[in-house]
Amino acid sequence: MKFFVDTADLSEIRKFAETGLVDGVTTNPSLIMQAGNDFLDTVREICTMIEGPVSAEVTATDFETMLVEGRKLAKIAENVVIKVPLTVDGIRTCKALSDEGTMVNVTLCFSPAQAILAGKAGASFISPFVGRLDDIGQDGMGLIAEIVSIYDNYDFPTEVLVASVRSTQHVVDAAKIGAEVVTAPPKVLWQLFKHPLTDIGLESFLNDWKKTGQSIL
Ligand code: E4P
Repeated sequence: MKFFVDTADLSEIRKFAETGLVDGVTTNPSLIMQAGNDFLDTVREICTMIEGPVSAEVTATDFETMLVEGRKLAKIAENVVIKVPLTVDGIRTCKALSDEGTMVNVTLCFSPAQAILAGKAGASFISPFVGRLDDIGQDGMGLIAEIVSIYDNYDFPTEVLVASVRSTQHVVDAAKIGAEVVTAPPKVLWQLFKHPLTDIGLESFLNDWKKTGQSIL
């Protein structure tokens, strides 16, 4: 399973990258707004820190302008993935950019029908938003299971990128289903390390080690 960090905060990306566990980064206009930095500079900087896919989202809503924006963003670095919304124009843009050899992440996916369109349009990634579906009382993880099984039926090369992740349980559930990627906020990724029994166990081991009076170095 690949881990993408869902943030535009450079210091958070740098910190998590030090673990060696970051496979990519996803950003969106809201995350860019929260980080408060220039969009193009931010994407450029992230691409110097992370070798894997870095998603940068277009903000136009018509096909022609999306294509121009996508091509401009794609020139920033080889690992830039163009993020387009799941609209008719977004899917057209996905097809056009994918045909040119540019990686595309189709975002704001909330149904299996939408995911089929992204797969047919040659998307490298589909981003179903589990948390936002859970928020309105629907089954976010159920959608992931449906998409994984549909893509398997047709050998679509599109990777399922589980987005809008709110908890470590979302990560575990996505892994059980076999989704290729999760993108999670840094807070959730750090929580993956945590278990109270790990802390208690380590404290007790270290106390006993001290009593031996020995040193490894
Ligand atoms: C995915 O690429 C999106 O940036 C993100 O996961 C959305 O998450 P949210 O629903 O917490 O805003």
